Amino acid sequence: MDNSKIKRYTVTAALPYTNGPVHIGHLAGVYLPADTYVRYLRSNKRDVKFICGSDENGVPITLKAKKEGITPQEVVDKYHKIIGDSFKEFGVSFDIYHRTSSLTHHQTASAFFKKLYDNGVFTEEITEQYYDEKAQTFLADRYITGTCPKCGNENAYGDQCESCGSTLNATDLINPKSTLSGEPPIRKETKNWFLPLDKYEDKLRAYIEGHKEWRPNVYGQCQSWLNAGLQPRAMTRDLDWGVKVPIKGADGKVLYVWFDAPIGYISATKELCNYATLDVWNPKAEEYYIDPAEDDKCSFEEYWKDDSTKLVHFIGKDNIVFHCIIFPAMLMAHGDYILADNVPANEFLNLEGQKISTSKNWAVWLNEYLLEFPDQQDVLRYVLTATAPETKDNDFTWKDFQARNNNELVAVFGNFINRVTVLTHKYFDGKVPMLMEITEQDQAVIDELASYPAKISASIENYRFREALGEVMNVARLGNKYLADTEPWKVIKTDEDRVRTILHISLQIAANLEILIEPFLPFTADKLMRMLNYGGHKWEDAGTLNLLARGHQLNEPTLLFAKIEDEQVQAQIDKLNNSKAENIQANAKAVPAKENIQFDDFGAMDIRVATIIAAEKVEKTKKLLKLTVNTGLDERTVVSGIAEFYKPEDIIGQQVSLLVNLAPREIKGIVSQGMILMAEDSEGKLTFVQPAIKFENGSVVR
Ligand code: MF3
Ligand code: ZN
Repeated sequence: MDNSKIKRYTVTAALPYTNGPVHIGHLAGVYLPADTYVRYLRSNKRDVKFICGSDENGVPITLKAKKEGITPQEVVDKYHKIIGDSFKEFGVSFDIYHRTSSLTHHQTASAFFKKLYDNGVFTEEITEQYYDEKAQTFLADRYITGTCPKCGNENAYGDQCESCGSTLNATDLINPKSTLSGEPPIRKETKNWFLPLDKYEDKLRAYIEGHKEWRPNVYGQCQSWLNAGLQPRAMTRDLDWGVKVPIKGADGKVLYVWFDAPIGYISATKELCNYATLDVWNPKAEEYYIDPAEDDKCSFEEYWKDDSTKLVHFIGKDNIVFHCIIFPAMLMAHGDYILADNVPANEFLNLEGQKISTSKNWAVWLNEYLLEFPDQQDVLRYVLTATAPETKDNDFTWKDFQARNNNELVAVFGNFINRVTVLTHKYFDGKVPMLMEITEQDQAVIDELASYPAKISASIENYRFREALGEVMNVARLGNKYLADTEPWKVIKTDEDRVRTILHISLQIAANLEILIEPFLPFTADKLMRMLNYGGHKWEDAGTLNLLARGHQLNEPTLLFAKIEDEQVQAQIDKLNNSKAENIQANAKAVPAKENIQFDDFGAMDIRVATIIAAEKVEKTKKLLKLTVNTGLDERTVVSGIAEFYKPEDIIGQQVSLLVNLAPREIKGIVSQGMILMAEDSEGKLTFVQPAIKFENGSVVR
């Protein structure tokens, strides 16, 4: 969108599901980039509303309620508070953190649906859905378990098998069971209202293709949806938790959660503006107005229906289709609303090389981080922005966290600020000294400083936050280098005036850093502001030497960052590994124990120690190795499915346990005589079961 046309901004961050706390993946993927963007806009005195809230409808909430034995309302109340508090504590500066269980939201979403219904947008379709006769209710896919048709896992869900990762339809499951009653469900006809996405295909294509500037991952995903052809999609569900469908004959039905959730952005803005207009605080509403602007009267219509408003959605990559295809189609069908100008979706953040997983407790939870690193929000904000998964998945490791804190925040940023403030106190009683004569060396630094704000602006306005933060750090590096080159601590002995100039310029760099770092590290900016004893500067002031007046009194220096020790990060790594070990135990229990057998059944198996003497890959297969083993009895060929875990050259000479009396079988044209025993972990990883010391070939395992 042409910058000169923009009068105001509506910036939204994905509404988190209130079925659990938020973790670093959420922060890195959505809330930090959004907050940085908004803080930058505010510093540029742009008119912006930063909108978020809890996504409190849908099946995930009802499932969680069932699991915890409480009501859905109790679930959402609990997590709305936990999540809202985490955002507050990490300085995510929403103008409102609303919720989709609120009255305003129910009214807004229901009116939106009604308008589309009255305009004849929806089609009515009757489909067969699973129904639990005992519980007398239709079953969402998540409420059905059964055997996965792909891998045989007996506890697969109707929408997904967590064992092999396949996406499923409930009707694919073998032996489906309702999780409510444990009974097999029946199929029953039901009527729902569908949004004919196919009819909006041309308009959507024009919309998407008008935004070639979007991130390639976002643009590409939209293209592939469009190219695959869009299908009508049900916008109502048979469920009793959510926004009731506001038409006759729709008892027991609610709006599809992905229909009502994005409308949550609109209802939150309404709530915000009404609050501001009425200028009353309604404690009963229990909403978080994180950054309530005192007399900020606003018109909700302007933020959603005016062409001069720039709408930006910050989301994670799993939300792309909902924000770039379905929500825009809804807005088009309605007709009154503007469409998003950009949807900067991030990829995923992994943790120590593994996918973050709530169910496996493989995560760093924000509420827990603060207990262990009190007052160090900005360290996490820094690391998560510096490693943000903007263009590809990225990995968070505790070692990297420590290194970036110690080598960048402490050694570069903190060190610079500390040196200039301490020296100023030492030589000039903490008063900003006068700028005397400027040398060529000084001028070069002043010029370089002046070049940064525009560069950083360009990166932020193009949603490249990592790059922008890197440039801010370069300003701190510039300051450090300037001090190292000019050595005021030596010059002070011979030329006090020269030191006046050096410290004057250095202090102005420090003040510049306060402005430039604020969108990223607001807590640090705040401390720096107190140390420099000034406030109120905005982005337009950056790049100059006009921030601190000569003679201005600084406050006592304090340290901005503290070193993080090995023990601290080791404790975090241990904590993760412990939760993983607990999980694996739980998983091992999840592999059902087999029935008892008699000793003779076991005795029938002839298991021996054998040594691998040759190994090669079986052609045209991914998993198979052809092994030659010495069993003590003979040398023979065994085909084993271990190629994903072992390279042929690495296993020659290794001992294994071999079931030698298994009837020979032909595999890929090779006769395999016996089976190598392997242990398999919860993720399907295989390892040899070996004697603990080198043992004679042919030794019996019993
Ligand atoms: N609750 C969804 C998720 O966590 C995001 C919803 S974004 C919305 O994936 F605004 F559309 F609600
Ligand atoms: Zn499966």
